[in-house]
Amino acid sequence: MNIFDQMNDAAGFIKSRNALSPEVGVILGSGLGEFADTLEEKTVIPYENIPHFKKVGVKGHTGQLVMGKIKGRPVAVMQGRYHYYEGHDIREVVFPVRVLCELGIKKLLLTNAAGGINSMLLPGDLMIIRDHINMMGVNPLWGENDERLGPRFPDMSRVYDEELINIIADAMNSMGLGVKKGVYLALSGPSYETPAEIKMLSVLGADAVGMSTVPEAIVARHMGAAVAGISCISNLAAGISKTPLSHKEVTETANRVKGHFIKLLTAIIPKF
Ligand code: HPA
Repeated sequence: MNIFDQMNDAAGFIKSRNALSPEVGVILGSGLGEFADTLEEKTVIPYENIPHFKKVGVKGHTGQLVMGKIKGRPVAVMQGRYHYYEGHDIREVVFPVRVLCELGIKKLLLTNAAGGINSMLLPGDLMIIRDHINMMGVNPLWGENDERLGPRFPDMSRVYDEELINIIADAMNSMGLGVKKGVYLALSGPSYETPAEIKMLSVLGADAVGMSTVPEAIVARHMGAAVAGISCISNLAAGISKTPLSHKEVTETANRVKGHFIKLLTAIIPKF
C-alpha cells in the first residue's frame, strides 16, 4: 500500500473513533507529555491501535493520540513521537504528521527537549524555533514523490510561521518568561554530541541541538500546514555543560518546566 492510501486508512480509523475536526496538531517532546492530560472532552487512541502506526519505545514517551479541546479549540495531540534513532524508516517517523494533516489540521506545533548551545540559553528556558538545520543525514521526502501529498521540491525559506512565532512570543511576554528565539539543529542521535561537535554546530549557526522535530516540520510544510516549534532547553550541550549528559537530566528539566509549558500551550493554541 502506498503512503497516500495508508494515510487515508489511518485517518479514516481515527475519524471512526472521534467526530472532532482538529484545527491544530501538537507533538509533545520528551517529558512534556502531560499537556495532553489537560484537554477537555478527550478521546485517547494508543498508537498501536491506529493502522500503519509503529510501536513507540523511549522512556518518557507514552505513544498515544489524544484528541479533545483547549478552551473550545479542537486539537489533535501526539503524546509521544517516533524517533529516527529507534530504527524506524524516516518515512515512518513522519507518517503521523501526514495523518494529522489528512485529519484537517492547518497548524502544527512541534515541541522537543534540546541541548542549549548558544550561551544565552539556560536549562529550563523555552526557545521559540525560528529556523532549523537538518543534519540528520536523511530527508523524510526521500524517494518517489506523490503529488497528491505535496510538491517534489517544497520551499523551505520560511518553515516556521511568522504569525505563530509572534503569538508565542506575546504569550511568553505576558507570562513574564524571557522571549528567546533560535535555530534548532537536528542530528540522528542517539549518542549525545562530543564537545568538538558542539563547537562545530555553534559555528554553523545552531542555538540548540536535538534528535527530532525537523523531519516533522519538513513534512508538515510539504503538506501545506503552518508550523511552529518550541524547544525546552533541558541541558547545556556537551562541553558547555560541566557534567556528563543524561536522559535523566533531560526528563528532570522537562518536569521542572512543565507547569510553565502547559500554561503557555493553553494560552497560545486557541490563538493559533
Ligand atoms: N543533544 C541532543 N539531543 C538532546 C540534547 C542534547 O544535548 N538534550 C535533549 N535532547
